[in-house]
Amino acid sequence: MSTATDAPHSAAAPVFELSDIGVRFGGIVALDGVGLDVRPREVHGVIGPNGAGKTTLFNVACGFVTPVQGTIAWHGKPLDGLRPHQLAGLGIARTLQGLGLFDKISVLDNVMVGADRHGRAGFWSGLLALPRSSRDERTLRERSMTVLDELGIADYAGRAPASLPYPIRKRVALARALVAEPELLLLDEPASGLSEEEMSELGDIIEGLSERISVMLVEHHMDLVMRVCDRITVLDFGKVIAKGTPAEVREDPAVLAAYLGNEVTHDDSVHGLNGGENA
Ligand SMILES: Nc1ncnc2c1ncn2[C@@H]1O[C@H](COP(=O)(O)OP(=O)(O)O)[C@@H](O)[C@H]1O
Ligand SMILES: [Mg+2]
Repeated sequence: MSTATDAPHSAAAPVFELSDIGVRFGGIVALDGVGLDVRPREVHGVIGPNGAGKTTLFNVACGFVTPVQGTIAWHGKPLDGLRPHQLAGLGIARTLQGLGLFDKISVLDNVMVGADRHGRAGFWSGLLALPRSSRDERTLRERSMTVLDELGIADYAGRAPASLPYPIRKRVALARALVAEPELLLLDEPASGLSEEEMSELGDIIEGLSERISVMLVEHHMDLVMRVCDRITVLDFGKVIAKGTPAEVREDPAVLAAYLGNEVTHDDSVHGLNGGENA
C-alpha cells in the first residue's frame, strides 16, 4: 500500500483497465462482465472463493486467455488482442505459480534474462556469443544484483535455482520480473507455499514496490491481501460482487455471504476476512 499520501490514487487515471470481460470455457461462464482498473502505485487485490474466476482474470491480464467480450486498456488505450509476448514491451511483468526458472544457469543469469525490455544487446545474444556491448552487460548485471539485494537474496546470485528452497526460488522469479523495471506487476498467488514469516516479508516487499509501481495481486491469503492492498475486487461465480478498500470489502455482506457459502474455505476465509489486522 502506498504511503505517499492519505488518498494516493483516487484522482489518478488508471494504468491498466479491464472492462466488461467475458470468458467462457465450453459451457462454463468463467467471467461475466468483469471490470477492474489499477491506478498508479496502487496494489489492487483480486479475491474470491475457489472457482470464482481469479486465475482466469489473471490469465486475461497476461494475454494467456483471450476474452470473448470486453476490453483491456493500457494507459487509456485499448489493446487489440493482448498476447503474452507484448507484456514486456508495454511495461508489464508477471510471476506465475510455476516459477519458470532455468534450473541450470545461475540465479543472476536467470534474473538477467528478465531484462529484455531494457537490454539492447541482451542475454540471449550473449549465450549465442554475438557481439554486444560489455557496458550494457555490466549495467544489466549491476541492476540485477541491485534487485537481488532488494529482495534479500543477493547471496544466492551464483547458485543454481534447483539447489534452492522454494521460497528463495519464488524471490528469484520475482527478481526476474522486477529487473525489467515494469510499471505494472501481475502476481498470481505469490504467498502460496510460504510460511507466516515469509508471507509477512512478502508483504513488506509488495509495500516497498508500491512506492514506485502498480501491482495486481491475485491471492487467497486474506491477511496479506488486507494488509497490502489499496483496493480489492471480489469475484464470485465469475462476477464482481464487491469492490473497495480492505475495510469496505471486509464488511460487505455480499463478500461475507460468498465466503460463508463456500464450504471448502469457510473457516480460513471468514477468520481471515475479519482477523486480518490482528494476525
Ligand atoms: N482451462 C479451463 N477449462 C475449463 N474450465 C476452466 C478452465 N479454467 C478455469 N475453468 C473454470 O472456470 C471457473 C473459474 O476458474 P478459476 O479462474 O480457476 O477460478 P479461481 O482461480 O478463482 O479458483 C471454474 O468454474 C473453473 O472450473
Ligand atoms: Mg485460481
